[in-house]
Amino acid sequence: MKTVKQYITSLYESDLPEILKKYPGLKLSRLLDEYCFYSSKFSHEYLPGLESEFSSKIFKGIPLEYISKNSFFYRSNFFVDKRVLIPRSETEILVENSIEYIKKNHHDNFKVAEIGVGSFALGLSILCDISKRVYFWGGDIDPCALEVAHINLFKLRSKINPKTKVKLALSDRLGAVDEKFDFIVSNPPYIKEKQDKAGVHPQTDKFEPHIALYLPDESYDHWFADFFSQVSEKLCAKGAFFMEGHEDSLSHLQKIGLKYSSKVLVKKDYTGRDRFLQAYK
Ligand SMILES: C[S@@+](CC[C@H](N)C(=O)[O-])C[C@H]1O[C@@H](n2cnc3c(N)ncnc32)[C@H](O)[C@@H]1O
Repeated sequence: MKTVKQYITSLYESDLPEILKKYPGLKLSRLLDEYCFYSSKFSHEYLPGLESEFSSKIFKGIPLEYISKNSFFYRSNFFVDKRVLIPRSETEILVENSIEYIKKNHHDNFKVAEIGVGSFALGLSILCDISKRVYFWGGDIDPCALEVAHINLFKLRSKINPKTKVKLALSDRLGAVDEKFDFIVSNPPYIKEKQDKAGVHPQTDKFEPHIALYLPDESYDHWFADFFSQVSEKLCAKGAFFMEGHEDSLSHLQKIGLKYSSKVLVKKDYTGRDRFLQAYK
């Protein structure tokens, strides 16, 4: 009988070109780790058939994080499934910049909002790191995503300042909010459905929620103009807004953003591509 390690190794080597097509750059060690997460969800006893169930998911090209129901992001493991976008490594830069801003500008009644929480990986990573007490409002337009956000809040609650209040709500951008915030962060959907689709990996398009990825080309500018206008209305005097966006759209969005903010900067990711906007009231 094969050991689990031998089984996963022979799965990996059985059709490596096909596996790499679906999972670019996948290393055997990563596949073994994902299998450990996957199998740990079931039982501590040996379950016959679990390895073959795992390999059939692999050959369907289901994202590894959806198979193992786990995604490591910034400094924590998050529960993920098909209801939410898998958090991306470039968003960790947004976490770092947000933490830096909040630590520098924090006061006793500091209020933070996130638009489009999804798995809540971005907001929770910030909350786990800042250690200071804040009030946090997180919204999402998708009730299914909010269910996952609640799971992760429950999972990581003990890592957050116990005096921090977190409210999660169903909301189209900031439409359901009446209060003002010192800092607003967002990684909104930012891929143009038609123009940018060719640059999206087929597995992402096939398995991840389209509501988290795409906006219609025709209403893209209008959607962001509304978005910036809501943000400007809900930011306190001297507040700041940080967001992630598409490399080809950010300089254009900067111009739209300048109609609603005194200063808007475009920041790059580690590959040197435009990736973030930082707007100041
Ligand atoms: C790119 S995902 C980001 C998820 C998570 N914050 C992250 O960084 O991994 C975008 C999220 O925005 C939500 N969303 C899409 N349109 C929205 C809208 N009009 N208002 C609020 N949330 C929206 C999606 O449901 C999705 O959860």
